[in-house]
Amino acid sequence: MENFTYCTPTKLIFGKNAIEQLPEVMRPLGRKILLTYGGGSIKKIGLYDEVKRLLSDFEIYELPGIEPNPKYSPSVLDGVRLCKDNGIEAVLAVGGGSVLDCSKAICAGALYDGEPWDLISYQVKAQKALPLVDILTLAATGSEYDCGGVISRTETNDKIGYMDELLFPVASILDPRYTFSVSRKQTAAGTADAINHIMEQYFCEKHSVLTDGMCEAAIKSLIQNARVALEEPDNYEARSELMVDCSLACNGILSIGNSPSGWPCHGMEHALSGYYDITHGEGLAILTPRWMRHILNEKTIERFVSFGVHIFGIDASLPEAEIADQTIEKTYELFASFGIPMHLREVGIDDTRLSEMAHHIAVNEGLEHAWAPLQEQDILEILQASL
Ligand code: NZQ
Ligand code: ZN
Repeated sequence: MENFTYCTPTKLIFGKNAIEQLPEVMRPLGRKILLTYGGGSIKKIGLYDEVKRLLSDFEIYELPGIEPNPKYSPSVLDGVRLCKDNGIEAVLAVGGGSVLDCSKAICAGALYDGEPWDLISYQVKAQKALPLVDILTLAATGSEYDCGGVISRTETNDKIGYMDELLFPVASILDPRYTFSVSRKQTAAGTADAINHIMEQYFCEKHSVLTDGMCEAAIKSLIQNARVALEEPDNYEARSELMVDCSLACNGILSIGNSPSGWPCHGMEHALSGYYDITHGEGLAILTPRWMRHILNEKTIERFVSFGVHIFGIDASLPEAEIADQTIEKTYELFASFGIPMHLREVGIDDTRLSEMAHHIAVNEGLEHAWAPLQEQDILEILQASL
């Protein structure tokens, strides 16, 4: 194993009625709270009213309307302004990954005198941040259990992953029933996102029996439970496992002691949603099998064989090249079976800006240092194969 330091200070409060603990979680953090949320799903499921009832003796300010692929302007800037103008002491994010990510950037920006983009773009390291608590409503990104956020800046097509240990949530409230209302599309995309998070950690140079086993178990759980949840959206057990799988998939525990992979599919997907504002998990599902096909070679084949045998039950006695081939096919079929559109054209991306995106990715994502290195031409070929 490689050397590592691991620490996730976030308290996970999981299960039916976990929200009852909200007042005691918030009380030590302050009385002036900024409540952040998205386009209205939390009102439809009654969660907004529940939060207001439980926090009736707090002073609550609100930032509604946080967009999927959250935008620096207006959402992050509006949130920072609200915090500064009102002396906000803590942020409560209620929603999916976009609401949580935006709230993390707000927590850092609120205690910084300059332009918040300085922090997001790593020009300046934050010295402090407001505390964040969240109530998760969509199992996908793992933002509830990591210190990262992804923020888009429309005018430059930038979509930047921003991480800072100050931004781990203090606590995340996980009641799977809040995810019963998540649409088929978002359930499928969220599962694909989490599966890809794990693949980004599995396809690397140095791994262990322990990390391979954890990754394989988590992917199997995601596949089995997504199949159930897509048919029975209010199946509590299926939604429970999906929620916990997703929380664990992105915080590093599943690849503890592994060597880094460079997260190539994420590097490429950030440009797709930065340029075209598509759903993150769909972009990943489209790219993943094409990336696999592109990087398959003598050096990488062992990972394909292991993945195919353990995840899809492919016959281990077949020639390695055949196993690898089937692994790629079955990965494609898996995402397609969730109902995900599997071509860029189906999500509104044609060939007009592929070269520009490939260049943007090559300049900004450092994928030439990935486990399977990608130069600009490689990236362009993967995008072209994804059309
Ligand atoms: O805005 P509302 O009305 O809440 O609707 C949302 C949104 O339209 C809806 N939704 C959420 N909970 C719901 C619900 N609809 C019905 N019932 C519910 N209970 O779902 C839509 C998508 O929400 P969003 O938060 O955008 O989805 P997701 O959680 O997949 O987050 C995607 C964002 O997270 C970033 C992605 O790049 C993308 O910007 N990521 C964050 C990561 C992290 N922090 O570690 C890692 C990931 O790799 C990812 O990059
Ligand atoms: Zn992701």
